[in-house]
Amino acid sequence: MKADSFLLLLLRSSSCISPNQTPTASSSLINKLLIHSTILDSHASYALPLLAAARRSPVTTLVAAFFLLALFIYGEDVRTIAELSIDDYLYPDADLYNVSGLPPLVLPPPTCDLSSGHWVFDNTSVPAYREKECTFLTRQVTCLANGRPDDLWQYWRWQPNDCSLPTFDARRFMEAMRGKRLMFVGDSLNRNQWESLVCLVQPILSKGRKKIVKRGNFNTFYAMEYRATLQFYWAPFLVQSNSDNPNFHHIDERIISPEMIEAHAKNWKDVDYLIFNSYIWWMNTQDIKVRKTDARAWKDNDEVPRMDAYGRVFKTWSNWLETNVDPAKTSVFFMTISPIHISPRQWGNPNGIRCVKETLPVLNYTEPLDLNHDMRMYDMVMNVAKNMKNVPVTVINITRMSDYRKDAHTSLYTIRQGKLLTPEQKAKPQKFADCIHWCLPGVPDVWNQILYTRILSKSSPPSPIPSLPPQRQAGV
Ligand SMILES: *[C@@H]1O[C@H](CO)[C@@H](O)[C@H](O)[C@H]1NC(C)=O
Ligand SMILES: *[C@@H]1O[C@H](CO)[C@@H](O)[C@H](O)[C@H]1NC(C)=O
Ligand SMILES: *[C@@H]1O[C@H](CO)[C@@H](O)[C@H](O)[C@H]1NC(C)=O
Ligand SMILES: *[C@@H]1O[C@H](CO)[C@@H](O)[C@H](O)[C@H]1NC(C)=O
Repeated sequence: MKADSFLLLLLRSSSCISPNQTPTASSSLINKLLIHSTILDSHASYALPLLAAARRSPVTTLVAAFFLLALFIYGEDVRTIAELSIDDYLYPDADLYNVSGLPPLVLPPPTCDLSSGHWVFDNTSVPAYREKECTFLTRQVTCLANGRPDDLWQYWRWQPNDCSLPTFDARRFMEAMRGKRLMFVGDSLNRNQWESLVCLVQPILSKGRKKIVKRGNFNTFYAMEYRATLQFYWAPFLVQSNSDNPNFHHIDERIISPEMIEAHAKNWKDVDYLIFNSYIWWMNTQDIKVRKTDARAWKDNDEVPRMDAYGRVFKTWSNWLETNVDPAKTSVFFMTISPIHISPRQWGNPNGIRCVKETLPVLNYTEPLDLNHDMRMYDMVMNVAKNMKNVPVTVINITRMSDYRKDAHTSLYTIRQGKLLTPEQKAKPQKFADCIHWCLPGVPDVWNQILYTRILSKSSPPSPIPSLPPQRQAGV
């Protein structure tokens, strides 16, 4: 049954509208509701039992009508909750761990160092997905659609020296995510990785049962059949700062508040997998502005050396984790430095312009590449991670492997302030090339392959439930 006719029937059968008349006030309401009839359609199976009840009782009719109205009035939140609860009905087995039919899980030994290795050209097993097939990608990273002429950067597989990385198996991963929340927290590089993860899992999810909702600091991907959410949370310094609005911030005028984290961290509670990063926003200047402890406004600040502030932030961050995270429920990860490629001399190309002319990775592994990262920051995080008392932090070392990938940045094939680069901007690559973010598919897919390996090594799967739970009765 079409949901819109169902609604009309509901409204007409209630006492306020007579069957032969279409009063103007109500008709505009009806029209408004009809606009949303696609959403209603997905609720139709839920509505059927209500309809049967509505024939018998005008009270049920009104209750049903108000329920449906509330769906629209309260917008996304209610819709999401409603859809998830409808999944209870549509997917009674949504919490059943089910790996039947999957090949056995083969993981590298925990002692194998996944971060040392080399890139192998492989145009049969990578990329894991195609840019065109993942409609969730934002224009920031769709390099081919944005006009990038070469496509070789997609065809490199990461080969660790002493073992092999398992292929990302989307179904296996989603089984581990059943009923769970995973959240990336940090800057746009973590968003880059979140977009990659969404593309890696989305092919196995049914149409209409997956979606992205962007609100405030959250980008949330819902995988309804699995009752799972994969989220990205914007907090480029982890602690509170004047750059916490994901849409309005000035990288040049950033001021942080190293001891204040609660406004962000309250959103991280009870998440099953937390994946942090924070580096690039620290790199503009040697000193950073820090809000005074008793300050009334951001303008009341001191300038301190970057490392001092970074240390204070990680003290706040680790204290928060130790007091608020239950290590039996939550696994914590930290992604190391994602390299920028702006000085071609560092990889021996005196004619290069930032990363713009690069179409191949660095393939000479005899001497380590030095891209001049601030390794003190790297070491600081390693140290904090090592000294955690109750909450283990797994550091995922992506720095060296990504160092080699001068070819894989979005470069001139991206957006700036919401628009594709103009020909005039493209003519000034020195100024406009983005050698920070990565094209997708691409390097962040490999980061996720490592994350996948670590998550599956950690999660001891629940034993499969032998029989289905009794079917829930709807509409009672
Ligand atoms: C488990 O998954 C397989 C493959 O998708 C499916 O055929 C089977 O019905 C599922 N079993 C249960 C109990 O849901
Ligand atoms: C990160 O990986 C690189 C390459 O294997 C290695 O040289 C470096 O020591 C690693 N860093 C840490 C802290 O493990
Ligand atoms: C893969 O790369 C090889 C070597 O460049 C090329 O000959 C072959 O046609 C490529 N295959 C595909 C499917 O692109
Ligand atoms: C690789 O790099 C080393 C040291 O920079 C250099 O001596 C060697 O010639 C390079 N090899 C190739 C094949 O370019």
